[in-house]
Amino acid sequence: MDRWCGVVSLDCSFKIYGNKFVVLKIVSLRKDYFIIGKIGYIARSEVANIYRLFELFKNFILGLSLFGGNLTFIVSREEGVYNTLLVLHASSIAERKLKNWVREVLAYINSFSNLANLKWQYVDYERARDILGFLLRRFVGLVAIREFEIRNYRYQIAERAGRSWEFDSILGGAISTGGDVCGIYLPAFKDGTFLIVGANLDPIKLSIKRRNEAFFKIDAHRERSMDGWAELERHRFKVMIVTGIMTAQAPNKTYSLTLNIRNIYQNALQLPKLILSKSLTERKSREKIIRDTILGLLMNMPYGITIDSKLDSFLCFLLPIMVSILFVRKRSFFDPHLDIYEHATKGEIQIGWQLYSGERLAPFHIGIKDLRRHVLILGKTGTGKSRLARIIAEEIVRKKISKIWIFDFHKEYLDLTRKYDFEVYEPGTTRRALQVNIFDSQYEEKESYASFLTAILLETIKMRGEEATAQMERAISYATWATVHSHNPSPTTFLSKLYEWCKEAEETLPSALYTFHAVANRLKPLFSGVSKYIFWVRRSNIDISDLVNKNVIFDLSYLFKRNLKNEIFLLVNILLRYTVMALFKQEYLLLENKPPRLVLLVEEGRYLVPWRKISSSIDTTAVEDFATLARKYGLGLIIIAQSPHLISQDIISNSGTLFLMNTDIPEREYPILENEELRKYIQMMPPRHAIVKLSSAPSLIHIEVKQHHIEPYVPPAPTPQQEYLPQTQIIPLDFEDWIREIISLNSK
Ligand SMILES: Nc1ncnc2c1ncn2[C@@H]1O[C@H](COP(=O)(O)OP(=O)(O)OP(=O)(O)O)[C@@H](O)[C@H]1O
Ligand SMILES: [Mg+2]
Repeated sequence: MDRWCGVVSLDCSFKIYGNKFVVLKIVSLRKDYFIIGKIGYIARSEVANIYRLFELFKNFILGLSLFGGNLTFIVSREEGVYNTLLVLHASSIAERKLKNWVREVLAYINSFSNLANLKWQYVDYERARDILGFLLRRFVGLVAIREFEIRNYRYQIAERAGRSWEFDSILGGAISTGGDVCGIYLPAFKDGTFLIVGANLDPIKLSIKRRNEAFFKIDAHRERSMDGWAELERHRFKVMIVTGIMTAQAPNKTYSLTLNIRNIYQNALQLPKLILSKSLTERKSREKIIRDTILGLLMNMPYGITIDSKLDSFLCFLLPIMVSILFVRKRSFFDPHLDIYEHATKGEIQIGWQLYSGERLAPFHIGIKDLRRHVLILGKTGTGKSRLARIIAEEIVRKKISKIWIFDFHKEYLDLTRKYDFEVYEPGTTRRALQVNIFDSQYEEKESYASFLTAILLETIKMRGEEATAQMERAISYATWATVHSHNPSPTTFLSKLYEWCKEAEETLPSALYTFHAVANRLKPLFSGVSKYIFWVRRSNIDISDLVNKNVIFDLSYLFKRNLKNEIFLLVNILLRYTVMALFKQEYLLLENKPPRLVLLVEEGRYLVPWRKISSSIDTTAVEDFATLARKYGLGLIIIAQSPHLISQDIISNSGTLFLMNTDIPEREYPILENEELRKYIQMMPPRHAIVKLSSAPSLIHIEVKQHHIEPYVPPAPTPQQEYLPQTQIIPLDFEDWIREIISLNSK
């Protein structure tokens, strides 16, 4: 507000009404009240119904005029987006009169909006300040272009006898000659330009009053001609049409108009010119200048137009301009009309906007309650999933809502380490090595961890398309169990235990030794090659209970590039298991309304094992399934996937916050997306758009994700010290050698 006061040096304050309108009060000699609303969606009919549209706006203006004051529409373009503001202004010495004016006008606009399906953009305090700042800058611009005189457009209508104009016939003519009434062509409407069309409502009010009086008079004296009636309606109407470029220049500097602005004038005035051209003659304006209000000032600047005509003719001039600037905005062929939700305008994490028919009507936020339920982001490649996740992740870190672990497959998140405290692991490398002894049950009961590990090992084998016989399953199950329970759980112990089982079974099963080799072969890829730096280790180099208190990036790009899917799969699921169990064992039962302690962001949801497969293995004290357990003990999940078909059904059904970007729709969501058009739309949706389902409140919201740019970043190479240290945990003898060792030891 400071700048406002600085420039106009007046007292001002503002209030917000119903989240839709800003009422600005300026106090000087007189008091000026402005009602400002940002127009969102307007029901747009086909050209066939254009008369209805004009009728609608005609009624709107006539209705408004009963309250007096000035009516102005402002269209501007910023960052490619057209914004349309409605500004109503009244001025008086008596404040009480103005307060009544505000109340009545707001009531009128509200009821008209319902009737005309006119939606207003949500306005909160911050936004109100933006809007006022925006108006201010334009007013500065306006003052600056005062030098410019549009002589050609200073018309007055001089109607000659015998030439009577009917509203419909004129418009009809304009439309049939191909006039683009609905939506003026504004190629010159570059970012930062604005166009203002305003009218003083008082003459309209007066004109209506006179007409009504005349009507009664005519009724009383039937002999009076209709011509006389029309003459009574005649009035001097004041219009303002202004365009300019937003500047923050000092008002007294001369402003050079660019060609663009002339183009806008020409385009904006083409239609009214067409209509009025034959009946216009130029005449010097004689009105006295009233300088005591801002809008009054504007109205009387050289670009003000005075039209001396009948009311209908005047509306003929005004309506096409007003209506067409309101439709200057572009829209796609189908935009969903989903409701705007108040509860989604607040929350810790700002994501973008709620859209109605493609218009940003309100901000879109998610809150802690949404993070507590798992977040699922579905969308085809390039739709902006990672960027959306990134916005959420960054807010979590910036506002210290929770700790976050990011499983990054494309080095997309590393630049976060520049601004925030992150531990980075790059599994597979020796630089930022991550070493995980998968046989270490960490904070889980050994029994249940062993059955989880067995399940996950069998899953990795199946993922590679290899078969595991019943006997192999038994061997793995035993060896895993025995290793996890041993004093020295490690991959080498596992191999020994495996051999032990096979040797013993050999007495009854002749193929048992074959089973040993078959299992070893199937698991070998996990413990050799690049993977040996992760899993062929005696000890883990991380302590989960410590790590859950830190922000961590697991840079999986090294593994991902080498297509080491099984390793990623094993690693992600074991880490996920460890964290849930660590939180569970530490009994950090998450309190109501508290954010999760730790959020895991998994970029490729297809690497998560179906929860139902491993839930049965959780020890008997935990009756809940894995997802519920995670939620209860403060682990939030953000999962990204390209299609619902790529991830398991139970992950989808456990997500409380669902972002559907351009993608196939999960079958279970069909009931809530019963609208066929909406379903089609989801599969053609532009990038950065999403349909969101929040389970914190039953709502389906169409959103646009805000712009979020990332500077590419390559983290500095680690110091030699860092390079050396982690290698010490790696088992010196290779997997193959170890097998040979076991066999030779036993054959002795
Ligand atoms: N909110 C945004 N702000 C700015 N640019 C964006 C935004 N969303 C998407 N983009 C642009 O689109 C590109 C693709 O977005 P993103 O990487 O998020 O897609 P994705 O859905 O994760 O794709 P993939 O499935 O291939 O990983 C980005 O590199 C960026 O240039
Ligand atoms: Mg991505």
